[in-house]
Amino acid sequence: MREAQIIVPYQVFDYEELSAEDRELVDMAKAMTATSYSPYSHFQVGAALRLADGQIFKGSNQENAAFPSGLCAERTAFFAASANAPEVPPVTIAIAAQTGGQFLENLVAPCGACRQSLLEAETRFKQDIRVLLYGTGGTYVIRSMRDLLPLTFDGSELP
Ligand code: THU
Repeated sequence: MREAQIIVPYQVFDYEELSAEDRELVDMAKAMTATSYSPYSHFQVGAALRLADGQIFKGSNQENAAFPSGLCAERTAFFAASANAPEVPPVTIAIAAQTGGQFLENLVAPCGACRQSLLEAETRFKQDIRVLLYGTGGTYVIRSMRDLLPLTFDGSELP
């Protein structure tokens, strides 16, 4: 038997401590919560994704009466970016959420499917995607998608 640990490094910043660029992205993610269509969960999520050439694509969660037909904010933003700027690597994504008219105090963590989707771009472009998880109590900064999804299935074993 062998025991090991996976450590996920992250930093927590007060909003004012973030760089102007990161603050801009967080502000956009927060603003995008207003465009969420979430009559079922009443949980509004916004995402903003900056690409290497400076373009920013934004998204919010879009729900459906047939629940699995809905989509998270992160993938809405990412798929829009990938469809409109297919050759440009994403570099940073910011995510924010509110419910009951209040932004969450703690971070909103992207679901597994969103991590897996964004990991595809990280792998494809060999370019880390920084993740900014906003909460009123602090913004968590993770240096890559792979850090958020260790023991990754990235297709490298496929024939
Ligand atoms: N949701 C997101 O959009 N992103 C996340 O990171 C977590 C969950 C959405 C999916 C669903 O519309 C609602 O939040 C509740 O799960």
